Amino acid sequence: MKNYTRVADITNLNELVQSAIELKKEPYALQALGKNKTLVMLFFNPSLRTRLSTEKAALHLGMHVITMNISSDGWILEFEDGSIMENTAAEHVKEAAQVVSQYADVIAVRAFAQLKNQQDDYEEKVIKAFIKYASVPILSLESATGHPLQALADAITIKEHLSSPKPKVVLTWAPHPKALPQAVANSFVEMMQKMDVELVITHPKGYELSPDIVKESRVEYDQDKAFEQADFVYAKNWSAFESYGKVLSVDRNWTVTAAKMEKTNSAKFMHCLPVRRNVVVEDAVLDSDYSVVIDQANNRTYAAQVVLSKILGA
Ligand code: CP
Repeated sequence: MKNYTRVADITNLNELVQSAIELKKEPYALQALGKNKTLVMLFFNPSLRTRLSTEKAALHLGMHVITMNISSDGWILEFEDGSIMENTAAEHVKEAAQVVSQYADVIAVRAFAQLKNQQDDYEEKVIKAFIKYASVPILSLESATGHPLQALADAITIKEHLSSPKPKVVLTWAPHPKALPQAVANSFVEMMQKMDVELVITHPKGYELSPDIVKESRVEYDQDKAFEQADFVYAKNWSAFESYGKVLSVDRNWTVTAAKMEKTNSAKFMHCLPVRRNVVVEDAVLDSDYSVVIDQANNRTYAAQVVLSKILGA
């Protein structure tokens, strides 16, 4: 594996998930693989899970880790080619990516969507610039339009909790007071399209994800209907794709409640975290035995570890 910045970078998902499950049993099995190798992680945005789980994954592989909150501690970067740099940006990504490559064997980058301009975000300027100018592999820690490590952790979690050969997996939009990117939802849909599941996406009208992501996947605007006989319910808020970055609704009727979960086939409840309690999902669901959100967070380590191991040549 050269880079892991999109779900599409996975060539054999079953093998990757199985390897992650094996690594979970014996996390230090590949400790020699990363000896004398350095992972540099650059965060343009905050993180709890991604930062700690990816660092832990690298340590399991014997790597050194250097982490930088680049937006607060680094120079402001310019991403436009040919720009006259007379404003706030002090350094071009062209040099920055090459420079970081001198210190790193793998560069991991977190750069969220700006949610101002659909084309700018969906062009993935930041992650693509690092791929273009760095001389080492690039790992996405969530980019403008995707969160492939989260989606891999979600795939591992679903595999571990399978109760039927072809489960019904529902991705439901849920309310949130702030405009959030579509990245987690996009990558989850792409990951489920690679798995043998019946995927249903449910959201209020106006919250359609990009048609390039949804493709032929089923969209059901009636959340109650979508939940019927579901084996997994994945809640996530995202802002509108068409009316780009807008919050069109904060309708609490879309909050995932224990009453709604009763319509399912004793579904497992999933969320990538962080989550707004009693806005996105009721306490009664999040604190229930069928919530697997902590398993998902734990699997972030093994998703990152298996991907890093493939990048390092395992
Ligand atoms: N799920 C996730 O990416 O969490 P963080 O934003 O805390 O890293």
